[in-house]
Amino acid sequence: MASEATLAQAFHGTFIHTLSPKELEILTDTLILISPTGILESIHSSTPRASIPDLLAQNNYSPSTCNVTILPATEFFIPGFIDTHTHAPQWAQRGTGRGIDLLTWLETITFRHEAKLSDSDYAKSLYASCVRGGLKQGMTTACYYGSRHASASVILAETCLTLGQRALIGKCNMNRHAPDWYRDASVEESLHDTEDFISQVKVLDPEHKLVTPVITPRFAICCDEELLVGLGEVAGRNPDLPIQTHFNESRGEVDFTRSLFPTDKSETDLYERFGLLNERSILAHSIYLSDAEIERMAELKCGIAHCPIPNVTMDEFMVAPVREYLRRDIKVGLGTDCGGGYSSSMLEVMKSAFVVSTARCTMTQGRDEPLSVTEGFYMATLGGARVCGLQEKVGNFVVGKEFDALLVRADGQGVMAPVEEEDGVREVFEKFLMTGDDRNIGRVFVKGREVHSI
Ligand code: GUN
Ligand code: FE
Repeated sequence: MASEATLAQAFHGTFIHTLSPKELEILTDTLILISPTGILESIHSSTPRASIPDLLAQNNYSPSTCNVTILPATEFFIPGFIDTHTHAPQWAQRGTGRGIDLLTWLETITFRHEAKLSDSDYAKSLYASCVRGGLKQGMTTACYYGSRHASASVILAETCLTLGQRALIGKCNMNRHAPDWYRDASVEESLHDTEDFISQVKVLDPEHKLVTPVITPRFAICCDEELLVGLGEVAGRNPDLPIQTHFNESRGEVDFTRSLFPTDKSETDLYERFGLLNERSILAHSIYLSDAEIERMAELKCGIAHCPIPNVTMDEFMVAPVREYLRRDIKVGLGTDCGGGYSSSMLEVMKSAFVVSTARCTMTQGRDEPLSVTEGFYMATLGGARVCGLQEKVGNFVVGKEFDALLVRADGQGVMAPVEEEDGVREVFEKFLMTGDDRNIGRVFVKGREVHSI
């Protein structure tokens, strides 16, 4: 169970974060003060340990009102990871179903798993396992698809609040091209359940302090015209809510969508027509876009959840033009896409993003250069915060933001490449990103509250 912070907290040591896709900042000998409500109150870089008592006093704290932790040389803080696209109801099916196409995977594996969420006891236990598993791996924020059930999606929101994970959660809308035992019975029911879900989450967390509902059409194949019109209207009436969908994910999906909506020239035209594309949109995958579509996405300020693991482990090697998105300053974050993606680790997703970006470089004869370590780390943290509309709250260590952070231990735990004497902080950080795992994530904080420790 997460423990509430009641005192202020101060940490002295090394902090590593990004300021932009190209700027990695390493702050050493730094004191960060966090208010009792979890807000980053002040940052004092290049500060000797001896000056901590004075700095506390300057900020009106004393050792009895502020817990001070001095990090040893083998530890450092990074911002919490942000998973911009994942499916909580698919937590138990991860690892199964490799090598089949998306639509077959939905029909044969996924829908029957998601249907189980009609049982609230199952929902409670699966979602507790999913949220705990995410926190353990440093996922301080997750943008979740729920199942089509409003009640189970409320259970997911309650679970995130209890365990302390920041989350965006959507009741998944789907009224066709799914079995009759797993689809919304009508447009009216689908929209009614969505509004009901939104109001229940608003009661649980009125100011979206931790949990925010998301408008979630599964994708246009599973939503008929009338439902998409209705969801566009819900989005219009709720300008504070994000919108998520699967977008240009596979050839089969793109072709089938075109046959269902023959008058729309592209998925960009289609979703824009329903009022579902704007600065609040989180578009998972975004692989097969024309130049005109990319241009339009940039104009509309949509965000992209890049999910490289499922993109290369279904039946095609699908390579999103991430370099082009970054070039045009389109918001890009990373997503596990569990259980389409087999891994629930952002470290694994980041590494797959590097691999896929190298493939892209080869495919474009060197035009789209591979992602750098800084860019991958940015997408897993600040980039994801921008995609989720949380950039004023989290993503890096800036005064006024909330303290969502991971204490990384490079002290020989697990199988991380051993630290050698000549290694600088930058090398140790790269060793963690490329060879570390959850055994090196010693403590996890969300809004200053410790939500996991080992
Ligand atoms: N498209 C529609 N539903 C899904 C899903 O559950 N996962 C993925 N990856 N794509 C989808
Ligand atoms: Fe998905």
